[in-house]
Amino acid sequence: MDTMQGLKRTKYCGEFTAADIGRQAVACGWVQKIRDKGMLVFIDLRDRSGILQLAFDDQTDAALRAKAQTARSEFVLMAKGTVRRRESVNPELPTGEIELYVDDLRILAKSQTPPFEITDTTNVKEDLRLKYRYLDLRRGEMQNALTMRHKIVKIARDYYDQNGFLEIETPNLIKSTPEGARDYLVPSRVNPGCFYALPQSPQLYKQLLMLSGYDRYMQVARCFRDEDLRADRQPEFTQIDIEMSFVDEEDVMTVNEGFMKKAFKEALGIDIKTPFLRMPYAEAMERFGSDKPDTRFGLELVDLSDLLQNCEFKVFQGVLAGGSVRAINVKGAADHLSRKEIDKLVEFVKTYRAKGLAYTRLTSEGESSSYEKFLTDAEKTAIRERMGAQTGDVLLIVADSKNQTVFDSLGALRCELASKLGLIQKDVFNFLWVTEFPLFEYSEEEDRYVAKHHPFTHPALEDLDKLESDPGACRARAYDMVLNGCEVGGGSIRINNLQMQERMFKALGFDEQTAHERFGFLLDAFQFGAPPHGGMAYGLDRLVMLMLQKSSIRDVIAFPKVQNASELMTQCPAPVEEKSLKELSIKVDLQKNEEQ
Ligand code: AMO
Ligand code: AMP
Repeated sequence: MDTMQGLKRTKYCGEFTAADIGRQAVACGWVQKIRDKGMLVFIDLRDRSGILQLAFDDQTDAALRAKAQTARSEFVLMAKGTVRRRESVNPELPTGEIELYVDDLRILAKSQTPPFEITDTTNVKEDLRLKYRYLDLRRGEMQNALTMRHKIVKIARDYYDQNGFLEIETPNLIKSTPEGARDYLVPSRVNPGCFYALPQSPQLYKQLLMLSGYDRYMQVARCFRDEDLRADRQPEFTQIDIEMSFVDEEDVMTVNEGFMKKAFKEALGIDIKTPFLRMPYAEAMERFGSDKPDTRFGLELVDLSDLLQNCEFKVFQGVLAGGSVRAINVKGAADHLSRKEIDKLVEFVKTYRAKGLAYTRLTSEGESSSYEKFLTDAEKTAIRERMGAQTGDVLLIVADSKNQTVFDSLGALRCELASKLGLIQKDVFNFLWVTEFPLFEYSEEEDRYVAKHHPFTHPALEDLDKLESDPGACRARAYDMVLNGCEVGGGSIRINNLQMQERMFKALGFDEQTAHERFGFLLDAFQFGAPPHGGMAYGLDRLVMLMLQKSSIRDVIAFPKVQNASELMTQCPAPVEEKSLKELSIKVDLQKNEEQ
């Protein structure tokens, strides 16, 4: 193999321009493509900046030309030569006007034929790309994504620095305080039988930093959560995490709108309007069936319950005691939504626990609906009027004794329909804050209230007296930043005194002893002057995914994990040697685990 001896790269491949014509230059990179026409040989040389054409012709030394002919895809080359104007200009390439006419070629490394073609248009299965991620990362699309990620982190650090924030690292081996997702545990060798947890977020440390007087903190923090993966969820992910002292909700939101404004302007050249819309949680659910509403399209939910109080149709009437009947009007969709299509939508809503989906189609031939025989004409008319229905519209209705099921199924259905019917505009970035979240949600599994955000979130001041008497009705001083139907960030104003934190733990069903075992350090700290404080954290991966309009966060993470939390390239997780387990005083009992 050749060496680089005597040569130094002068520029990245993609940086050459017509201004370099006539200059001596050295470029290096990987062979994207070779075109061998005998006396004429062209090699597209690729690095992370772009592509440069290397040229060899009948004037080139025969041995050098022959060497060029031995190059194959993904070989690593270094080439010295003179930049000259191309015979045939390629307008598709930024460097399409010029080429490097080579007089010294080094083959620095050979490559086997790659398992897939390394181009932006590759449509090879994702699993194969992830197995050979180091090759996949050579593609321009991936390089763009990682470059964008770098830019956002850089902008964040600059922005928060300019606004008086200090970046402070918090530990990654911490005490396990399960509340929220499951922890990843790390055994301690020197303390047999004891475990650290990897942080789900730096939450408690950043709050303690406020107590220590750091006033404004930020961190680009790695977080770990042992939860089921989705397109927007990874077991390890990155937060841009911030906390501020002596602030209220508006202060936190305003600073963070400023960050979004700067990030979109500098990274994408897009002006976004601030302040963002603020929408209370209750309104988001009523109108969009979701606490992260996508406001790029309509299809809003409409409550029909009051119109159906006395109807004979059991499916509707039977749910009204604790639930509701709600509908969406798919305007002008009668031609696109056939009976067969609607049947598919019925199956779709069932995956969100809805028991069915009633519909009515309004065509020029009249109304045909699944409740034709069950409702009176007056009731049908009232529904049409409430929905503003016209000829050509389709109304889709869900009834359930649980409002949450109606919201979940119609909320998901409106997004499904919008994407199916092409109602989502590209290149639109709709931000809003969802505010006034419930403080708790009831966990059927645990038969108790659990914190909707986390146990350190301050209850709404107006609802303090309901903390014990009616926890379900208590709102939180929490807010989520939502972008195009995705939660990109969330945070809250925190509890900053002992009594309130103790009341909160009590409401969550922790007895005093449990609260002290788990969070004693925090309760102790609160006795030493904790300032009012609040903050939030962005999911960096989600933010970059949305900015690049990708459908999965895997596309903006260098080495992501797949559905079963494994990494296909290194094949982890994997068993470890008996010796390592012994050192950690750990015995694995797979059989028992399988029985559970
Ligand atoms: P929260 O749990 O809402 O709040 O997380 C903040 C943001 O992190 C992102 N996120 C994720 N991204 C990828 N994969 C995951 N598994 C994942 N889980 C969360 C989301 C989310 O909005 N400590 C609090 C913040 C605070 O109160 O300041 C926290 O972690 O975009
Ligand atoms: P059934 O009486 O169960 O045959 O239902 C009559 C119509 O009502 C069918 O179109 C069902 O899809 C619809 N339907 C059934 N359950 C529900 C529900 N929970 N919400 C809305 N529509 C429903």
